[in-house]
Amino acid sequence: MCGVIGYTGRRQAGPMLVSGLRRLEYRGYDSAGIAAHTADGIAVRKLAGRVGGLQGLLEREPLAGTSGIAHTRWATHGAPIAVNAHPHTDCTGRIALVHNGIIENADALRELLQRDGHTFSTQTDTETLTHLIERAEGDNLEARVVAALEHVVGTYGIAVISADEPGKIVVARQGSPLLLGIGDGEYFVASDASAIVEQTRSVVYLDDGDIAVLTPDRYHVMDRDAHVQLREVDDVTWDLAAIELNGYAHFMQKEILEQPETVRSTLRGRLMFEEGCARLNGLNLTLADCADVRRLTIVACGTSWHSGLVGRHIIESLAGIPVTVEYASEYRYGPQLRQPGTLTVAISQSGETADTLEAMRAARAAGSRVIGIVNVVGSTIAREADGGIYLHAGPEIGVASTKAFTSQIVALALLGLYLSESRGLALERRQDFAWRLAQLPALVARALALEPDIRVLAQSLVGQGAGNALYLGRGVNFPVALEGALKLKEISYLHAEGYPAAEMKHGPIALIDEAMPVVFVAPHDEVYPKVLSNMEEVRARGGKIIAITTEGNGDVRRLAEHQLRVPATAPLLSPILTVIPLQLLAYHIAVLRGCDVDRPRNLAKSVTVE
Ligand code: F6R
Repeated sequence: MCGVIGYTGRRQAGPMLVSGLRRLEYRGYDSAGIAAHTADGIAVRKLAGRVGGLQGLLEREPLAGTSGIAHTRWATHGAPIAVNAHPHTDCTGRIALVHNGIIENADALRELLQRDGHTFSTQTDTETLTHLIERAEGDNLEARVVAALEHVVGTYGIAVISADEPGKIVVARQGSPLLLGIGDGEYFVASDASAIVEQTRSVVYLDDGDIAVLTPDRYHVMDRDAHVQLREVDDVTWDLAAIELNGYAHFMQKEILEQPETVRSTLRGRLMFEEGCARLNGLNLTLADCADVRRLTIVACGTSWHSGLVGRHIIESLAGIPVTVEYASEYRYGPQLRQPGTLTVAISQSGETADTLEAMRAARAAGSRVIGIVNVVGSTIAREADGGIYLHAGPEIGVASTKAFTSQIVALALLGLYLSESRGLALERRQDFAWRLAQLPALVARALALEPDIRVLAQSLVGQGAGNALYLGRGVNFPVALEGALKLKEISYLHAEGYPAAEMKHGPIALIDEAMPVVFVAPHDEVYPKVLSNMEEVRARGGKIIAITTEGNGDVRRLAEHQLRVPATAPLLSPILTVIPLQLLAYHIAVLRGCDVDRPRNLAKSVTVE
């Protein structure tokens, strides 16, 4: 939510900040703005709308300066209009600030500051910070920022500049991600590495409570008492190509089609075929630790929660350990029971989702060991967890999560295999599962070959003007039905509902008529005959059936108007294949409906507010 970037050095800040902001647009795209140190103090340009608009504004009203800050917004407090766009300034216009996060006591602060004579010009919570810094005492900007933050309750990743200290940027982090980019005679701050990787691959991840001060000549990190903190410089390991479209129309399309490679990358070096086990060094769990695990609690949101539901089936089947899967947002405010032997697994593509992070912290406070299944290296969940599994799927830019979902299931399958070793699962079964996992990249590629058929199906569905769809599945494929429906909803704005196929007759069956497409996720597994009966029930009521099934399955031909066949695999791994046609279907429907696939309305990629 919201992208923050800053630059100080010897080059012109404007073009660099705008190009960085473009990379951060997936975090929010309601409005955009920039502030720079110029010869006359601080100049600000901002508007409602996207970074492209800001670039146009800067061409009309250029801004010359070699240090500055910029922002792309996902609105929380205050409508997405120009006045509420960041950067915000104080009463004098000599301090400018960009912010990602939420100031929870903003109303009380606003009242207090107004009583003190400060004039507010926006409806945002962020503006309180500029006035707090304005009235704070201190010898320099960093001292005033620290003094101001003492009054603040909430989360923030901020970058601040002052006309009195040209070339300096002060940065503070509490609950919202920020990293520094280390260049040669120039420094950056950004919400994530994608914004600066074109300029430098050396980064410093900031921790909560950190204050950083950047000038063209040096940077330092300190705590709130001005004690210098030593922070390691890390290398960004992925290439620029990973965050470019490279000829694809959309990031979502690119990321769907990348899945043979991303699944391979999640598996790389982690399977031991002879031993029938997984090598997961980052977990920091010995076999003896695994033997002590009595239950797993998975916490996650959205698509990651769906992968957790699949993971439950896999882990319970392989390792026989009971698993509960919780919405992180519900779990964190529920009673977290202190149950010895609980291993909590936080699943998050971004590693920054506020609810998942807080759920993980709550679980730890209740005595649980926590591990993270995370894609973004160096993210907060990855760093706070006791251990974990990185997806290594590369940056996911499209707001709708696709390649992270399949890699999360792969990571959960590896975890299941790892845990199963200490639970006495027969060697043969473990070896077989390892081989099945290794075959997945090639099978995913075969599932992707369905794309031309799916495009035709999408054309027919859009042509019929269907406004609703029902997605049904059973067992390990019920979460795939949920995920297929979520993909359609979020990028094409069509209503879709995922349901367990057999539950349909307890209510949703009333919705079925000739106008209702019903997507069945029905690969060949032990519940397949049951799902066929559910198809009969839909068919009997005139519903139009689209079946995602396994190659060679002939029975659905009679029942389904459209059939999409994915290759066979171990039933527990089938979601990695059955979800592919659903991702492609949602993508093509959204494109045909003219939707902005990579930036769906009201959404942001990384949800760092609760
Ligand atoms: C849907 C989607 C979201 C995320 C959710 C959790 O396509 O992307 O539902 O899955 O916001 O995000 P992470 O995995 O980053 O914690």
